[in-house]
Amino acid sequence: MDVAELIAGQDRFALHERHLNHQMVRVLRTIGFDVDYVRAEGPYLFDPQGNRYLDLLSGWGVFALGRNHPAIIAALESVLRSNLAHLVQMDLSTLAGILAQRLAARTGLEKAFFCSSGTEAVETALKIARRSTNRSKVIYCERGFHGLTLGSLSVNGDEYFRDGFGDLLPGMIRVPFNDLPALERALAGNDVAAFIFEPIIGHGVFIPDDDYLPEAARLCRKHGALVIADEVQTGLGRTGRFLAVEHWGVEPDMVCLAKALSGGFIPSGAVMMRPKLFNALFDRMERAAVHGSTFSKNDLAMAAGIATLDVIDNEHLVENAERMGTALLAEFATLVDRFEFLHAVRGKGLMLALEFGRPKSLKLRTAWKLLESANEGLFCQMITIPLLKKHRILTQVAGSGLNVVKLLPPLIINDADRKWIADSVTDVIADSHQVPGSVWDLGKTLAGSALKARKAS
Ligand SMILES: Cc1ncc(COP(=O)(O)O)c(C=O)c1O
Repeated sequence: MDVAELIAGQDRFALHERHLNHQMVRVLRTIGFDVDYVRAEGPYLFDPQGNRYLDLLSGWGVFALGRNHPAIIAALESVLRSNLAHLVQMDLSTLAGILAQRLAARTGLEKAFFCSSGTEAVETALKIARRSTNRSKVIYCERGFHGLTLGSLSVNGDEYFRDGFGDLLPGMIRVPFNDLPALERALAGNDVAAFIFEPIIGHGVFIPDDDYLPEAARLCRKHGALVIADEVQTGLGRTGRFLAVEHWGVEPDMVCLAKALSGGFIPSGAVMMRPKLFNALFDRMERAAVHGSTFSKNDLAMAAGIATLDVIDNEHLVENAERMGTALLAEFATLVDRFEFLHAVRGKGLMLALEFGRPKSLKLRTAWKLLESANEGLFCQMITIPLLKKHRILTQVAGSGLNVVKLLPPLIINDADRKWIADSVTDVIADSHQVPGSVWDLGKTLAGSALKARKAS
C-alpha cells in the first residue's frame, strides 16, 4: 500500500462527516480550523501551499518530541526489520523489561504496568488502589481530568464529560483542588483507598500552592490512602521536571504516564508503582493474568518508549522546557498590565495558560458581555482563531466554560519559535482591545452562531 497515493484526492471532511464525528467537522468549520495539513516536521505543520504552522497543541501533549522525530522512526523501523517474536503473550518481552527498568530509574518506582492509553493507566491505578487497600473510595479533584472510560470518568471533575452516562462508580469523593481542609475531611473516616490528582490541572492549567501536594501526601499517609499522581499530561519533562511532582518533592505511590511516552507514534501508557502494590494485584501464581491488556507490551510501543527517553536525555528536553517556559511566562507577564482583557498568566515549563476576564472600561465591558451571554468562554476563540489565521499558530481553549487559552508546545521549540509565539500572542491580544475592529466582527459572528446553536438545541 502506498499511503500517499491512497489519501491523494480524498475528501477527509466528507469521510468524517459521513462515518466519524460529524460534530467535530462542524466545530472545525465554524472556527475556521479546517486547514488541510499535509505534512509535519518537529513542531511545525504544513498546508498544501507549503505554509508553516507552529503547533502548540502537540496532539493534546503527545508530540513532546515534535512530529516524526527521526530517532523514533529509526527505533520503529528497527523493530519492524528485526522479525522479533512479537506479543507471544506466554513469553516475556525484553524491550518491555528495558523500558520498565529505565522508567524505574527515572521515577524511583520499581514496578511498571504497561497499557495503551492514559485512561487505561488510570483504570489500572484505581483497581490496584482498591485491591491493595481493601477500600473502594477514591478522592478526586474538581476540574480534574483522568480519561473518559467509565472508571476514570467516575473521577472526572467536570460535568461536561459526566452528564448523560448514567451512574458512575460509587464511593468517589470530589474535593476542590488546592483545598487541604476539604481533603482532610474526605480522608477523616480512614476508609479511602486513594487520592488521585493531576499535579497541575490540565483543563485550565491550575497550579497548586507550594504546600498543597506535600501536605496532601502527608495526610494521605496518615489516613492510609494511596497517593496517585496522574502525570499523563504533566510527565516526561513537560513542566521542566521529568515528573511534575518533583517541583514539590512529592513521592507518589503510583504515577500514571501515557501521551508522550511513545514519541506520538504508538498508543502507550504506564503505571509506575511501589512493588508492594504490584504484589497485592499479582499475589499468587494463578492470579498472574488477573489484570492486563492485549497490546500493552507490544514491541513497537516499548521500543518507541526507550527511544523517547533517549531523546529527552540527549536533546536536554526537560531543561529546554524549563528554559523556554520561564522565558515565555516572563514575556506574557508583561502583558497583564497592558491589556484589560488579560487577567493572569501562569504555567510551569511548557504548560502555559493565558486567562482572560471582564475588562474595566465600559466600552470593552459591553463587548465582553455580548460574547459571554452568547456562550461562556467564547472570548478565547477571538484569541485562538486570529492566532491561527493571522499568525499560523495552533492553540486551544483550555476547557469548557473557561476563558483560558492553553499552550502545550513540543518540548523542542527554539528561541525563534519562542519569539514567534510571544509576538503573535501580543498582537492578537492588542487586536482584541480594538472595539470596533476586525476581531470583534469575528466575535459578533461567533456570538450569532452560538445563539443559533443554542436555539436549535
Ligand atoms: C491528566 C490526564 N489523564 C488521563 C488522560 C486520558 O488519556 P487518554 O486520552 O490517552 O486516555 C488525559 C488525556 O488528556 C489527561 O490529560
